[in-house]
Amino acid sequence: MKTFKLNNGVEIPAIGFGTWQIPEGEEAYQAVKEALAAGYTHIDTAAIYGNEKSVGKAIKDSGIDRNSLFITTKLWNTERGYDKTIAAFEQSLSDLQLDYLDLYLIHWPANETQFANWSDINADTWRAFEHLYQQGKIRAIGVSNFPKDYLAKLLESATIVPAVNQIEFHPGYLQEDTVALCQSNDILVQAWSPLGSGRILQDETLVALAKEKNTSVGQICIKFALSQGILPLPKSTNPDNIKRNLAIDDFELTASDIKTILELPEMGFSGSDPKKVAF
Ligand code: A2P
Repeated sequence: MKTFKLNNGVEIPAIGFGTWQIPEGEEAYQAVKEALAAGYTHIDTAAIYGNEKSVGKAIKDSGIDRNSLFITTKLWNTERGYDKTIAAFEQSLSDLQLDYLDLYLIHWPANETQFANWSDINADTWRAFEHLYQQGKIRAIGVSNFPKDYLAKLLESATIVPAVNQIEFHPGYLQEDTVALCQSNDILVQAWSPLGSGRILQDETLVALAKEKNTSVGQICIKFALSQGILPLPKSTNPDNIKRNLAIDDFELTASDIKTILELPEMGFSGSDPKKVAF
């Protein structure tokens, strides 16, 4: 699989398997096993998804060499701050049955409607991430759902520039300002919900484009993210879709196709404003 190079030189497989909303237990276990068998080497989970144990078991049972896989998990919002972050990291590692992580992300920034000292909380959490990174327990550290202003604030106190910002990104929801700040700081953008969680698959323009290219809207969305230098994390529990979402090399998107997608009206988004997320 192709890779992106992170700002610390670590290579990351260019498409990852997302596991948000895949329930713990048999479903997550089977989905990850399917994904590994289909050729994904990059798996994205989070403590709050509740499925780290099943994800870890599927990884272990696959028998695949750990060093050939890239595993990401995320710190949940109740665990922010220096000491709690260190403890939460150890818990995730243990649930995943791993002895190191490839990428650890702050899942959401603390925000000003919740905490007067929100920027200090984010800075303290990031110091713990830097410490874990310097100890060699994580190959790269980053953030998630950090819109432009939150990221800019974090960069003021960070010693290590985040390697990644994982945000909602798909046709109809581009977060241009945040993407621009990331890309100008060599921070790789990862796309959660690269298919708009299924909500944009019926869009007429995308359906017509998929028909013309003899492919599916899902594959168009994945290729579109990559065309923007963005790493997509498609999620699926359907074995055909799991395989299909890696098969994107038999069609091309022209500059004009990409322009058409970039100009689609806003649609299909979950909402990624940290102040509006109720936790
Ligand atoms: P399923 O699990 O049945 O495949 P996102 O990654 O944006 O969150 O989107 C995930 C949703 O899109 C899931 O509902 C998933 O359903 C569906 N999906 C994933 N891949 C495809 C695909 N290639 N074609 C159609 N639907 C897909």
